[in-house]
Amino acid sequence: MKEIKDHYFFKAKKEGYPARSVYKLIEAQERFKFLGKGQKVLDLGAAPGSWTKYAAKVVGSDGFIVAVDLHRLKINQDNVVFLKEDIYQLISSKELEEQAPFDVVLSDMAPKTTGRKDRDHYLSVDLARTALQIASRFLVKNGAFYCKVFDGEDFPEFKTEAQRIFRTVKIFKPKSSRKESVEKFLFCKTKK
Ligand SMILES: C[S@@+](CC[C@H](N)C(=O)[O-])C[C@H]1O[C@@H](n2cnc3c(N)ncnc32)[C@H](O)[C@@H]1O
Repeated sequence: MKEIKDHYFFKAKKEGYPARSVYKLIEAQERFKFLGKGQKVLDLGAAPGSWTKYAAKVVGSDGFIVAVDLHRLKINQDNVVFLKEDIYQLISSKELEEQAPFDVVLSDMAPKTTGRKDRDHYLSVDLARTALQIASRFLVKNGAFYCKVFDGEDFPEFKTEAQRIFRTVKIFKPKSSRKESVEKFLFCKTKK
């Protein structure tokens, strides 16, 4: 993925996070206040580990994070369990079943982009749908789901699917997400 060397890139370096994407979670936390001490959090598409590191700090030593990715994390945190796994295999994962239920499910997953906007959109929605399925199965009733998805023609349908599962569904575009980027985030809370 192309590295954007802007204000957020240098801020992340200074604050010890491996990626600028951390501010897309911090801004959501400032707005929705869904992460808290002692929680169990599932972070899908966690590498290199900025969201995991931030979430691990917020939940503290009484909580923990299960971080999942195809690639290893570049962080080292005591209260993090890492699963090197493809999200598509996760729904039947015994390990996940043992750690569930979670208070929060995060997904910053992004497909390997092809440069074809429509194709990248479909791949992103497919990942987001799988994350939604996992959240629906493994979240506590009052839990929160925060998920990235590339905008495009299937976005409204994806939002409707989320509304079938959650009482609250909000679209969020953090300031740290570049205006020209097609990514958007969905914040969902409380299963129906
Ligand atoms: C934008 S990065 C996540 C950045 C991370 N939130 C952070 O702050 O460090 C997207 C991640 O999604 C992961 N990903 C994409 N498809 C996946 C899949 N099928 N299963 C698991 N992880 C996947 C990629 O490997 C990549 O590390």
